[in-house]
Amino acid sequence: MSGQVKYLLSEDEIPTHWVNIVPDLPGEPLPPLHPGTKEPLGPEDLAPIFPMALIEQEVSTEPDIEIPEEVREVLKLWRPTPLYRAWRLERHLDTPAHIYYKYEGVSPAGSHKPNTAVAQGYYNREAGIRKLSTETGAGQWGSALAFACQIFGLECEVFMVGVSYDQKPYRRAIIETSGGTVHRSPSDLTEAGRAQAGHPTGSLGIAISEAVEIAAGAEDTNYALGSVLGHVCLHQTVIGEECIRQMEMAGEYPDIVIGCVGGGSNYAGIAYPFIREKFRDSRPTRFIAAEPAACPTLTRGEYSYDFGDTVGLTPLMPMYTLGHDFVPPPFHAGGLRYHGDSPTLCALVKEGVIEARAFPQTATFEAAIRFAQCEGIIPAPEPAHAIRAVFDEAEKAKQEGVERTILFNLCGHGHFDMGAYEAYHAGKLEDLEFSEADMEQALERLPEAPALA
Ligand SMILES: Cc1ncc(COP(=O)(O)O)c(C=O)c1O
Repeated sequence: MSGQVKYLLSEDEIPTHWVNIVPDLPGEPLPPLHPGTKEPLGPEDLAPIFPMALIEQEVSTEPDIEIPEEVREVLKLWRPTPLYRAWRLERHLDTPAHIYYKYEGVSPAGSHKPNTAVAQGYYNREAGIRKLSTETGAGQWGSALAFACQIFGLECEVFMVGVSYDQKPYRRAIIETSGGTVHRSPSDLTEAGRAQAGHPTGSLGIAISEAVEIAAGAEDTNYALGSVLGHVCLHQTVIGEECIRQMEMAGEYPDIVIGCVGGGSNYAGIAYPFIREKFRDSRPTRFIAAEPAACPTLTRGEYSYDFGDTVGLTPLMPMYTLGHDFVPPPFHAGGLRYHGDSPTLCALVKEGVIEARAFPQTATFEAAIRFAQCEGIIPAPEPAHAIRAVFDEAEKAKQEGVERTILFNLCGHGHFDMGAYEAYHAGKLEDLEFSEADMEQALERLPEAPALA
Protein backbone atom coordinates (compact mmCIF):
# COMPACT_ATOMS: atom_id res chain seq x y z
CA MET A 1 0.00 0.00 0.00
CA SER A 2 1.24 3.45 -0.74
CA GLY A 3 -0.32 6.90 -1.03
CA GLN A 4 0.79 10.52 -1.17
CA VAL A 5 4.59 10.86 -1.29
CA LYS A 6 5.29 14.61 -1.09
CA TYR A 7 3.63 17.18 1.15
CA LEU A 8 4.20 20.64 -0.34
CA LEU A 9 3.42 24.12 0.96
CA SER A 10 3.12 27.28 -1.14
CA GLU A 11 5.53 30.24 -0.96
CA ASP A 12 3.11 32.32 1.08
CA GLU A 13 3.25 29.58 3.73
CA ILE A 14 6.95 30.22 4.45
CA PRO A 15 6.95 30.91 8.21
CA THR A 16 6.75 34.58 9.22
CA HIS A 17 8.48 34.08 12.60
CA TRP A 18 11.32 32.00 13.98
CA VAL A 19 10.71 29.87 17.10
CA ASN A 20 12.88 30.88 20.08
CA ILE A 21 13.02 27.89 22.45
CA VAL A 22 14.77 29.85 25.23
CA PRO A 23 11.65 31.02 27.16
CA ASP A 24 10.31 27.44 27.16
CA LEU A 25 13.52 25.83 28.44
CA PRO A 26 13.36 24.45 31.98
CA GLY A 27 15.28 26.64 34.46
CA GLU A 28 17.26 29.81 33.88
CA PRO A 29 19.53 29.85 30.79
CA LEU A 30 23.24 29.74 31.72
CA PRO A 31 25.10 32.81 30.39
CA PRO A 32 28.13 32.58 28.10
CA LEU A 33 31.27 33.80 29.87
CA HIS A 34 33.98 36.23 28.77
CA PRO A 35 37.08 34.20 27.78
CA GLY A 36 39.37 36.44 29.83
CA THR A 37 37.42 37.50 32.93
CA LYS A 38 35.10 34.42 33.06
CA GLU A 39 32.29 36.86 33.93
CA PRO A 40 28.92 36.71 32.09
CA LEU A 41 29.17 38.33 28.66
CA GLY A 42 27.54 41.63 27.79
CA PRO A 43 26.31 42.56 24.30
CA GLU A 44 29.28 44.94 23.89
CA ASP A 45 31.69 41.97 24.21
CA LEU A 46 30.23 40.44 21.05
CA ALA A 47 29.92 43.70 19.09
CA PRO A 48 33.40 43.53 17.45
CA ILE A 49 32.39 40.43 15.47
CA PHE A 50 28.55 40.32 15.27
CA PRO A 51 25.90 42.90 14.26
CA MET A 52 23.68 44.10 17.12
CA ALA A 53 20.53 42.57 15.61
CA LEU A 54 22.05 39.08 15.90
CA ILE A 55 23.39 39.79 19.40
CA GLU A 56 19.86 40.80 20.42
CA GLN A 57 18.51 37.52 19.00
CA GLU A 58 21.23 35.66 20.91
CA VAL A 59 19.91 36.97 24.24
CA SER A 60 16.23 37.31 23.34
CA THR A 61 13.55 35.76 25.54
CA GLU A 62 10.74 36.54 23.06
CA PRO A 63 9.06 33.27 22.06
CA ASP A 64 8.70 34.31 18.39
CA ILE A 65 10.96 36.57 16.35
CA GLU A 66 9.76 38.09 13.10
CA ILE A 67 11.59 37.11 9.89
CA PRO A 68 12.40 40.23 7.82
CA GLU A 69 10.46 40.36 4.55
CA GLU A 70 13.69 40.62 2.51
CA VAL A 71 14.95 37.37 4.10
CA ARG A 72 11.65 35.60 3.31
CA GLU A 73 11.97 36.81 -0.29
CA VAL A 74 15.38 35.08 -0.61
CA LEU A 75 14.13 31.93 1.18
CA LYS A 76 11.54 31.65 -1.62
CA LEU A 77 14.34 30.45 -3.91
CA TRP A 78 13.98 27.00 -2.31
CA ARG A 79 11.47 27.18 0.57
CA PRO A 80 9.14 25.69 1.61
CA THR A 81 11.05 22.44 1.29
CA PRO A 82 9.22 19.14 0.69
CA LEU A 83 8.23 16.61 3.33
CA TYR A 84 8.34 13.05 1.99
CA ARG A 85 6.66 9.87 3.16
CA ALA A 86 9.25 7.09 2.71
CA TRP A 87 6.90 4.36 1.55
CA ARG A 88 9.59 2.38 -0.28
CA LEU A 89 11.94 2.51 2.70
CA GLU A 90 9.13 1.34 5.01
CA ARG A 91 8.52 -1.65 2.74
CA HIS A 92 12.25 -2.39 2.49
CA LEU A 93 12.56 -2.34 6.30
CA ASP A 94 9.33 -4.31 6.60
CA THR A 95 8.30 -2.05 9.46
CA PRO A 96 4.89 -0.91 10.71
CA ALA A 97 6.50 2.51 11.39
CA HIS A 98 5.44 5.45 9.22
CA ILE A 99 8.63 7.23 8.16
CA TYR A 100 8.66 10.88 7.02
CA TYR A 101 11.65 13.00 6.06
CA LYS A 102 12.06 16.73 5.56
CA TYR A 103 14.43 17.32 2.65
CA GLU A 104 16.68 20.38 2.98
CA GLY A 105 18.95 19.27 0.11
CA VAL A 106 16.89 21.36 -2.35
CA SER A 107 18.57 24.59 -1.19
CA PRO A 108 21.27 26.35 -3.28
CA ALA A 109 24.08 24.86 -1.17
CA GLY A 110 22.38 21.46 -0.93
CA SER A 111 21.68 21.59 2.82
CA HIS A 112 19.93 23.48 5.62
CA LYS A 113 22.83 25.93 5.98
CA PRO A 114 21.46 28.75 3.74
CA ASN A 115 18.49 29.16 6.13
CA THR A 116 20.80 31.02 8.53
CA ALA A 117 23.40 32.21 6.00
CA VAL A 118 20.74 34.41 4.35
CA ALA A 119 19.57 35.85 7.66
CA GLN A 120 23.16 36.53 8.79
CA GLY A 121 24.05 38.12 5.44
CA TYR A 122 20.99 40.36 5.67
CA TYR A 123 21.65 41.64 9.22
CA ASN A 124 25.35 42.26 8.49
CA ARG A 125 24.56 44.22 5.33
CA GLU A 126 22.01 46.25 7.31
CA ALA A 127 24.77 47.01 9.85
CA GLY A 128 27.03 48.38 7.09
CA ILE A 129 29.52 45.49 7.19
CA ARG A 130 31.66 44.90 4.05
CA LYS A 131 33.01 41.38 4.59
CA LEU A 132 32.23 38.17 6.51
CA SER A 133 34.80 35.60 7.60
CA THR A 134 33.90 32.07 8.57
CA GLU A 135 34.97 28.44 8.99
CA THR A 136 33.63 25.47 7.08
CA GLY A 137 33.86 21.74 7.75
CA ALA A 138 32.20 19.74 5.03
CA GLY A 139 32.11 22.84 2.81
CA GLN A 140 28.33 23.11 3.12
CA TRP A 141 28.42 26.15 5.39
CA GLY A 142 31.10 27.89 3.33
CA SER A 143 29.02 27.39 0.15
CA ALA A 144 25.91 28.67 1.93
CA LEU A 145 27.58 31.80 3.30
CA ALA A 146 29.30 32.58 -0.02
CA PHE A 147 25.86 32.36 -1.71
CA ALA A 148 24.30 34.69 0.91
CA CYS A 149 27.21 37.16 0.68
CA GLN A 150 26.77 37.27 -3.10
CA ILE A 151 23.07 38.07 -2.65
CA PHE A 152 23.74 40.89 -0.16
CA GLY A 153 26.87 42.31 -1.83
CA LEU A 154 29.36 41.24 0.87
CA GLU A 155 32.84 39.73 0.53
CA CYS A 156 33.27 36.24 1.99
CA GLU A 157 36.49 34.68 3.32
CA VAL A 158 36.32 31.00 4.29
CA PHE A 159 38.75 28.90 6.36
CA MET A 160 38.12 25.31 5.32
CA VAL A 161 39.15 22.41 7.58
CA GLY A 162 42.28 20.91 5.99
CA VAL A 163 41.00 17.35 5.60
CA SER A 164 37.77 18.55 3.90
CA TYR A 165 39.73 20.96 1.69
CA ASP A 166 41.63 17.92 0.39
CA GLN A 167 38.58 15.58 0.25
CA LYS A 168 36.16 18.06 -1.38
CA PRO A 169 37.74 20.18 -4.12
CA TYR A 170 34.35 20.85 -5.73
CA ARG A 171 32.99 22.43 -2.54
CA ARG A 172 35.91 24.84 -2.78
CA ALA A 173 35.00 25.53 -6.41
CA ILE A 174 31.39 26.27 -5.39
CA ILE A 175 32.53 28.83 -2.81
CA GLU A 176 34.77 30.46 -5.43
CA THR A 177 31.96 30.41 -8.01
CA SER A 178 29.85 32.40 -5.54
CA GLY A 179 32.67 34.93 -5.28
CA GLY A 180 34.16 33.70 -1.97
CA THR A 181 37.83 33.13 -1.08
CA VAL A 182 38.88 29.81 0.49
CA HIS A 183 41.97 29.01 2.60
CA ARG A 184 43.10 25.58 3.81
CA SER A 185 43.00 25.60 7.63
CA PRO A 186 45.31 25.67 9.54
CA SER A 187 46.71 28.42 7.34
CA ASP A 188 49.70 30.67 7.76
CA LEU A 189 47.50 33.77 7.44
CA THR A 190 46.61 33.98 11.14
CA GLU A 191 48.40 33.56 14.44
CA ALA A 192 45.88 30.86 15.37
CA GLY A 193 46.60 28.92 12.17
CA ARG A 194 50.37 29.19 12.57
CA ALA A 195 50.10 27.95 16.17
CA GLN A 196 48.14 24.88 15.00
CA ALA A 197 50.46 23.93 12.12
CA GLY A 198 51.12 20.64 13.96
CA HIS A 199 47.51 19.55 13.21
CA PRO A 200 47.53 19.57 9.40
CA THR A 201 44.16 17.77 9.12
CA GLY A 202 42.61 20.78 10.88
CA SER A 203 39.34 20.89 12.81
CA LEU A 204 36.30 23.13 13.02
CA GLY A 205 37.68 24.54 16.29
CA ILE A 206 40.92 25.64 14.58
CA ALA A 207 39.11 27.09 11.54
CA ILE A 208 36.80 29.07 13.87
CA SER A 209 39.84 30.54 15.67
CA GLU A 210 41.26 31.68 12.33
CA ALA A 211 38.01 33.25 11.12
CA VAL A 212 37.35 35.02 14.45
CA GLU A 213 40.89 36.43 14.41
CA ILE A 214 40.32 37.90 10.93
CA ALA A 215 36.99 39.48 11.98
CA ALA A 216 38.30 40.84 15.28
CA GLY A 217 41.18 42.52 13.45
CA ALA A 218 39.13 44.58 10.97
CA GLU A 219 36.43 47.17 11.62
CA ASP A 220 34.47 46.43 8.43
CA THR A 221 34.60 42.63 8.84
CA ASN A 222 32.34 40.47 10.95
CA TYR A 223 32.34 36.76 11.73
CA ALA A 224 29.52 34.37 10.80
CA LEU A 225 29.07 31.01 12.53
CA GLY A 226 27.31 28.10 10.80
CA SER A 227 25.98 26.37 13.92
CA VAL A 228 26.04 26.20 17.76
CA LEU A 229 24.92 29.74 18.66
CA GLY A 230 21.34 30.57 19.64
CA HIS A 231 20.63 32.79 16.62
CA VAL A 232 21.79 30.08 14.20
CA CYS A 233 19.49 27.48 15.77
CA LEU A 234 16.71 30.10 15.74
CA HIS A 235 17.04 30.70 11.98
CA GLN A 236 16.80 26.96 11.32
CA THR A 237 13.37 26.62 13.00
CA VAL A 238 11.63 27.32 9.68
CA ILE A 239 12.31 23.61 9.06
CA GLY A 240 10.25 22.35 11.99
CA GLU A 241 7.55 24.99 11.58
CA GLU A 242 6.95 23.87 8.01
CA CYS A 243 6.99 20.24 9.20
CA ILE A 244 4.22 20.91 11.73
CA ARG A 245 1.93 22.05 8.90
CA GLN A 246 3.04 19.28 6.54
CA MET A 247 2.48 16.56 9.15
CA GLU A 248 -1.01 18.03 9.62
CA MET A 249 -1.54 17.66 5.84
CA ALA A 250 -0.49 14.01 6.20
CA GLY A 251 -2.94 13.61 9.10
CA GLU A 252 -0.19 12.43 11.47
CA TYR A 253 1.93 13.68 14.38
CA PRO A 254 5.48 12.38 14.97
CA ASP A 255 6.08 10.01 17.89
CA ILE A 256 9.81 10.42 17.34
CA VAL A 257 11.82 13.30 15.80
CA ILE A 258 15.36 12.41 14.72
CA GLY A 259 18.31 14.41 13.35
CA CYS A 260 22.10 14.41 13.24
CA VAL A 261 24.12 16.76 15.43
CA GLY A 262 27.37 18.51 14.53
CA GLY A 263 26.94 21.81 16.35
CA GLY A 264 23.19 21.23 16.69
CA SER A 265 21.56 23.64 14.23
CA ASN A 266 19.75 21.35 11.78
CA TYR A 267 18.44 19.23 14.63
CA ALA A 268 17.37 22.31 16.58
CA GLY A 269 15.68 23.47 13.37
CA ILE A 270 13.45 20.44 13.04
CA ALA A 271 13.07 19.64 16.75
CA TYR A 272 12.54 22.95 18.60
CA PRO A 273 9.07 23.74 17.21
CA PHE A 274 7.97 20.20 18.22
CA ILE A 275 9.73 20.46 21.61
CA ARG A 276 7.80 23.66 22.27
CA GLU A 277 4.57 21.77 21.50
CA LYS A 278 5.71 18.94 23.78
CA PHE A 279 6.24 21.40 26.65
CA ARG A 280 3.07 23.41 26.06
CA ASP A 281 0.65 20.60 25.15
CA SER A 282 2.24 17.76 27.23
CA ARG A 283 2.80 15.65 24.14
CA PRO A 284 4.70 12.36 24.53
CA THR A 285 6.99 12.98 21.50
CA ARG A 286 10.52 11.53 21.82
CA PHE A 287 13.59 13.28 20.42
CA ILE A 288 16.74 11.46 19.27
CA ALA A 289 20.01 13.20 18.32
CA ALA A 290 22.47 11.11 16.28
CA GLU A 291 26.21 11.75 16.37
CA PRO A 292 29.42 10.00 15.22
CA ALA A 293 31.11 7.52 17.57
CA ALA A 294 34.43 9.15 16.62
CA CYS A 295 33.32 12.57 17.96
CA PRO A 296 30.74 11.66 20.62
CA THR A 297 30.12 15.00 22.31
CA LEU A 298 26.57 14.38 23.59
CA THR A 299 27.04 10.73 24.57
CA ARG A 300 30.53 10.87 26.08
CA GLY A 301 31.41 14.56 26.55
CA GLU A 302 31.64 16.44 29.84
CA TYR A 303 28.89 19.00 30.63
CA SER A 304 31.08 22.00 31.29
CA TYR A 305 31.94 25.53 30.26
CA ASP A 306 34.37 25.43 27.32
CA PHE A 307 35.58 27.60 24.47
CA GLY A 308 33.86 27.38 21.09
CA ASP A 309 37.18 27.37 19.25
CA THR A 310 40.55 25.68 19.67
CA VAL A 311 42.71 28.63 20.57
CA GLY A 312 40.34 30.13 23.16
CA LEU A 313 39.26 33.38 21.45
CA THR A 314 35.50 32.77 21.74
CA PRO A 315 33.30 33.04 24.84
CA LEU A 316 33.01 30.05 27.15
CA MET A 317 29.71 28.24 26.58
CA PRO A 318 27.92 25.70 28.77
CA MET A 319 27.89 22.51 26.69
CA TYR A 320 28.81 18.86 26.37
CA THR A 321 32.41 19.04 25.21
CA LEU A 322 35.30 16.77 24.30
CA GLY A 323 37.69 19.65 25.06
CA HIS A 324 38.22 22.68 22.83
CA ASP A 325 41.57 21.45 21.51
CA PHE A 326 40.32 17.95 20.66
CA VAL A 327 41.07 17.29 16.98
CA PRO A 328 38.64 14.59 15.81
CA PRO A 329 39.97 11.87 13.52
CA PRO A 330 39.42 12.53 9.79
CA PHE A 331 36.15 10.62 9.32
CA HIS A 332 33.94 11.57 6.40
CA ALA A 333 31.06 13.46 8.04
CA GLY A 334 33.13 16.68 8.17
CA GLY A 335 30.16 18.69 9.46
CA LEU A 336 30.05 16.55 12.62
CA ARG A 337 33.74 17.03 13.55
CA TYR A 338 33.14 19.59 16.31
CA HIS A 339 34.18 19.28 19.98
CA GLY A 340 30.98 20.81 21.48
CA ASP A 341 27.33 21.53 20.72
CA SER A 342 24.74 24.26 20.97
CA PRO A 343 24.13 25.24 24.63
CA THR A 344 20.32 25.08 24.25
CA LEU A 345 20.51 21.59 22.73
CA CYS A 346 22.92 20.46 25.49
CA ALA A 347 20.52 21.81 28.13
CA LEU A 348 17.73 19.72 26.59
CA VAL A 349 19.95 16.61 26.58
CA LYS A 350 20.87 17.30 30.21
CA GLU A 351 17.16 17.56 31.08
CA GLY A 352 16.47 14.23 29.34
CA VAL A 353 14.17 15.86 26.74
CA ILE A 354 16.54 14.81 23.93
CA GLU A 355 18.16 11.34 23.88
CA ALA A 356 21.58 11.09 22.23
CA ARG A 357 23.00 8.09 20.29
CA ALA A 358 26.42 7.61 18.68
CA PHE A 359 27.03 5.53 15.53
CA PRO A 360 30.20 4.32 13.78
CA GLN A 361 30.69 5.54 10.22
CA THR A 362 30.48 2.21 8.35
CA ALA A 363 27.05 1.47 9.86
CA THR A 364 25.88 4.95 8.86
CA PHE A 365 27.07 4.57 5.25
CA GLU A 366 25.40 1.15 5.05
CA ALA A 367 22.08 2.76 6.12
CA ALA A 368 22.60 5.74 3.77
CA ILE A 369 23.11 3.43 0.77
CA ARG A 370 19.99 1.39 1.56
CA PHE A 371 18.05 4.65 1.95
CA ALA A 372 19.37 5.92 -1.42
CA GLN A 373 18.42 2.66 -3.12
CA CYS A 374 14.82 2.99 -1.86
CA GLU A 375 14.25 6.76 -2.04
CA GLY A 376 16.61 7.86 -4.81
CA ILE A 377 18.36 10.60 -2.79
CA ILE A 378 22.00 10.15 -1.79
CA PRO A 379 22.29 11.61 1.72
CA ALA A 380 25.24 13.67 2.95
CA PRO A 381 27.34 11.62 5.42
CA GLU A 382 26.05 13.82 8.28
CA PRO A 383 22.31 12.96 8.01
CA ALA A 384 23.36 9.36 7.31
CA HIS A 385 23.76 9.22 11.12
CA ALA A 386 20.11 10.22 11.51
CA ILE A 387 19.11 7.55 8.98
CA ARG A 388 20.99 4.92 11.02
CA ALA A 389 18.94 5.96 14.07
CA VAL A 390 15.73 5.79 12.00
CA PHE A 391 16.57 2.21 10.94
CA ASP A 392 17.01 1.21 14.59
CA GLU A 393 13.71 2.82 15.62
CA ALA A 394 11.87 1.25 12.66
CA GLU A 395 13.22 -2.16 13.71
CA LYS A 396 12.11 -1.54 17.31
CA ALA A 397 8.60 -0.66 16.10
CA LYS A 398 8.59 -3.94 14.17
CA GLN A 399 9.74 -5.97 17.20
CA GLU A 400 7.09 -4.29 19.35
CA GLY A 401 4.42 -4.50 16.62
CA VAL A 402 3.49 -0.82 16.89
CA GLU A 403 2.64 1.69 14.16
CA ARG A 404 4.96 4.51 15.24
CA THR A 405 5.39 7.76 13.25
CA ILE A 406 9.03 8.74 12.77
CA LEU A 407 10.10 12.11 11.35
CA PHE A 408 13.71 12.90 10.48
CA ASN A 409 15.68 15.73 8.93
CA LEU A 410 17.43 14.80 5.70
CA CYS A 411 19.44 17.98 6.05
CA GLY A 412 21.60 17.67 2.95
CA HIS A 413 22.47 15.65 -0.14
CA GLY A 414 25.80 13.92 -0.61
CA HIS A 415 26.61 14.86 -4.20
CA PHE A 416 29.97 16.30 -3.20
CA ASP A 417 30.69 13.47 -0.78
CA MET A 418 31.00 10.70 -3.35
CA GLY A 419 34.65 10.15 -2.41
CA ALA A 420 33.36 8.88 0.94
CA TYR A 421 30.86 6.56 -0.75
CA GLU A 422 33.64 5.36 -3.06
CA ALA A 423 35.81 4.59 -0.02
CA TYR A 424 32.90 2.65 1.53
CA HIS A 425 32.37 0.58 -1.65
CA ALA A 426 36.10 -0.17 -1.80
CA GLY A 427 36.02 -1.40 1.84
CA LYS A 428 38.37 1.40 2.87
CA LEU A 429 36.21 3.11 5.52
CA GLU A 430 37.41 2.53 9.04
CA ASP A 431 35.43 2.90 12.27
CA LEU A 432 37.44 5.37 14.28
CA GLU A 433 36.52 5.28 17.96
CA PHE A 434 37.01 7.85 20.68
CA SER A 435 39.12 6.18 23.37
CA GLU A 436 39.02 6.57 27.15
CA ALA A 437 42.57 7.97 26.94
CA ASP A 438 41.36 10.64 24.46
CA MET A 439 38.58 11.51 26.89
CA GLU A 440 40.86 11.80 29.92
CA GLN A 441 43.32 14.00 28.05
CA ALA A 442 40.52 16.23 26.79
CA LEU A 443 39.11 16.75 30.27
CA GLU A 444 42.50 17.71 31.66
CA ARG A 445 42.58 20.64 29.26
CA LEU A 446 39.17 22.12 30.07
CA PRO A 447 39.47 25.80 31.06
CA GLU A 448 38.91 26.87 34.66
CA ALA A 449 35.31 28.06 34.95
CA PRO A 450 32.33 27.74 37.32
CA ALA A 451 31.26 24.09 37.60
CA LEU A 452 27.90 23.10 36.10
CA ALA A 453 25.44 21.03 38.10
C1 LIG B 1 24.92 18.42 5.58
C2 LIG B 1 25.25 18.79 6.99
N1 LIG B 1 24.52 18.25 7.97
C3 LIG B 1 24.78 18.51 9.26
C4 LIG B 1 25.80 19.35 9.62
C5 LIG B 1 26.06 19.54 11.08
O1 LIG B 1 25.81 20.78 11.56
P1 LIG B 1 24.55 21.11 12.49
O2 LIG B 1 24.57 20.16 13.64
O3 LIG B 1 24.77 22.50 12.89
O4 LIG B 1 23.35 20.95 11.67
C6 LIG B 1 26.58 19.96 8.64
C7 LIG B 1 27.63 20.91 9.02
O5 LIG B 1 28.46 21.33 8.27
C8 LIG B 1 26.29 19.67 7.29
O6 LIG B 1 27.03 20.22 6.31
